[in-house]
Amino acid sequence: MQDQFSKIMKVTLTETEDGSHTLYVPEMDEHYHSTHGAIQESEHIFIQNGFLTTTAQPLQILEVGFGTGLNAWLTCNEATKAQRAVSYFTTEFYPLSPDTWEKLNYCNMHPDYDPSLFHAIHKASWEEKVGINNFFSIEKHKTDMTSFRFEKEITFDLVYYDAFAPGKQPEMWNRSIFEQIVNQMNPGAIFVTYCAKGSIRRLLTELGLKMERRPGPPGKKEILWGQKIIK
Ligand SMILES: C[S@@+](CC[C@H](N)C(=O)[O-])C[C@H]1O[C@@H](n2cnc3c(N)ncnc32)[C@H](O)[C@@H]1O
Repeated sequence: MQDQFSKIMKVTLTETEDGSHTLYVPEMDEHYHSTHGAIQESEHIFIQNGFLTTTAQPLQILEVGFGTGLNAWLTCNEATKAQRAVSYFTTEFYPLSPDTWEKLNYCNMHPDYDPSLFHAIHKASWEEKVGINNFFSIEKHKTDMTSFRFEKEITFDLVYYDAFAPGKQPEMWNRSIFEQIVNQMNPGAIFVTYCAKGSIRRLLTELGLKMERRPGPPGKKEILWGQKIIK
């Protein structure tokens, strides 16, 4: 069965420089991760500069762009190791078919992490909260982030913004999406993205985040990290 994404554009599996897989979208000429290393990039940006910079307990995370599930799986393993309760809310407009995600080699690349968690995260039903283990639950929403509206009560302590690049999908990097997300962020919440563009930094600053440029993973000079100002 074709997944929604492959109806519009084909994805092909490729290997990045650290040996971990990523997906390439020929129609967009865009990869899901850095070609310098998918696992290396996710760990640096979303774990080191995201998860490990937060203290909230329980921790509520929003990820925009679930994709291969790599960020979710790494976070689930970190949460389990640290015995921290995490609720993970993620949006994805083009879910991958099992034929695609089952071929990803992340579990072989990280033998100390639990492969059954990767499968459980992918197999979790959409549109409902599913407990993966004692520490990690996930709520995956199959939705177009450009028109999605959060329920008022939901709030986040940490945001992983992992959409395709602004040059490829400018509609994912506009004021209305960021305004919505910042509104759902708790005071002191962290926002992290691989994108280091000045226009995005300025936009997030205008919306009430104190933004910093931080060193990026290999192949990327800087990333953006921000914190919602506590008023
Ligand atoms: C850079 S990749 C994400 C990588 C992902 N975080 C991972 O660990 O594999 C961008 C993701 O955003 C998704 N996406 C594209 N347009 C979207 C939209 N309008 N709403 C929600 N997700 C979208 C893509 O399908 C893709 O999975």
